[in-house]
Amino acid sequence: MKIAVIGTGYVGLVTGVALAEIGHDVTCIDVDRNKIAELNQGIPTIYEPGLGEMMLRNQNANRLFFTDQHAKGLDGVEVIYIAVGTPQRADGSANLQYVEQAARDIAETLRDSVIVVIKSTVPVGTNHHIKEIINANVAPGIRVRIASNPEFLREGSALRDTFKGDRIVVGTEDPETGNILEQVYKPFGIPIVKTDISSSEMIKYASNAFLATKISFINEIANLCEKLGADVEEVAKGMGLDHRIGTAFLKAGIGYGGSCFPKDTNALVQLAGNHHHDFNLLKSVIEVNNHQQRMLIEKLITRFESLAGKRVAVLGLAFKPNTDDLRESPALVIIPKLVDLGADVICYDPIAANQGTRWISAPAVYTKNILKALSGADCAIIITDWPDIKRMEPDTYARLMASPIVFDGRNCYSISDVKQAQIEYYSVGRPSVI
Ligand code: UGA
Repeated sequence: MKIAVIGTGYVGLVTGVALAEIGHDVTCIDVDRNKIAELNQGIPTIYEPGLGEMMLRNQNANRLFFTDQHAKGLDGVEVIYIAVGTPQRADGSANLQYVEQAARDIAETLRDSVIVVIKSTVPVGTNHHIKEIINANVAPGIRVRIASNPEFLREGSALRDTFKGDRIVVGTEDPETGNILEQVYKPFGIPIVKTDISSSEMIKYASNAFLATKISFINEIANLCEKLGADVEEVAKGMGLDHRIGTAFLKAGIGYGGSCFPKDTNALVQLAGNHHHDFNLLKSVIEVNNHQQRMLIEKLITRFESLAGKRVAVLGLAFKPNTDDLRESPALVIIPKLVDLGADVICYDPIAANQGTRWISAPAVYTKNILKALSGADCAIIITDWPDIKRMEPDTYARLMASPIVFDGRNCYSISDVKQAQIEYYSVGRPSVI
């Protein structure tokens, strides 16, 4: 099938590459000429394991193209995906200007009837709004059908999530559109949930809100475990084996970050408010998360009388491993606070180190060398559970640091391993090792 994808951000690029991989003829369109130039040279514009190889393979097979020209990219296509960003507005609501612009661009360019699929995360009701924009601007006689098809991939495991996802959700008002999209996705062999458009839009928000709730819930349990002498890892294991609860997303830590959970939970609270529904549960989830990011700093302040002149090694900048994304990362809160408190901060990240100065204005040093970050440090703070940090022997801290005091926001090491090393160790929801 001939397909166009508008927007080459995380979702758009991965979708375009994956659809080409299963045999479709795909053109990705983006208004950013520099991005298109890089993509045309076979250089992926996001960091995602395995994406570069798959992209190049499909470009070489003439199944995957990139352009900044809508007329070129939309020529003769049967299905158009809108996968542009819906960033957060100051009031917490989703900013739809890019989705609306994509709809106008499509309408002005279309010469044949098509299906427009909205993959961007949008508030309930947006698909209908977009259909109205297209119908108001499209040439007479051209039929545009709309489908909602939310995305569930995670950064860092985007390809695995796309090819081995739990479900594909398609929301349409007419069965024929549903059947055509079923054909598009057939090679994936993933169960398809066909539903109405509003329910499909809600499935996306509800899923992210529920996962965020699981994280804030286990973080609150962790905070209580610390007070009562229990171990949250044991508690999460014991809870998760009940299949009604499940083990996933019960990892306590310094809270969720990234471009999705913070934005989508705020947008759902806002959407509920617009309909006179006070979503108190979700408001608490957000509040717990904000507090969780500050908890690690509070522990540090309790431990040290003053941080003035102390050398602090921050391990990890990205909001989670296997991505160079710093959006809503706890690092953005923690590093400026450390600098404010007078600390001399050196930050390590294997992939995102060079993004530090772009995102954080407070003076700090950034390095891709973990040994350099730890050498002579008075304490270390773990923000991201990168595999190389988790693999490191706890003893390394004792060997390299001036005083081996570790605040682990991701529970990277087992308490028994830490006890073997000569380090002072504070983690989340587990007994401290002093
Ligand atoms: C999330 C969802 O998991 C995807 O299904 C969804 O498609 C995506 O948002 C989106 O809306 O586009 P993502 O933000 O890439 O994906 O990352 P996750 O792996 O879900 O992690 C989000 C945050 O939660 C990270 O900061 C992570 O460290 C944190 N987390 C996750 C925990 O603190 N504990 C856990 O048990 C799991």
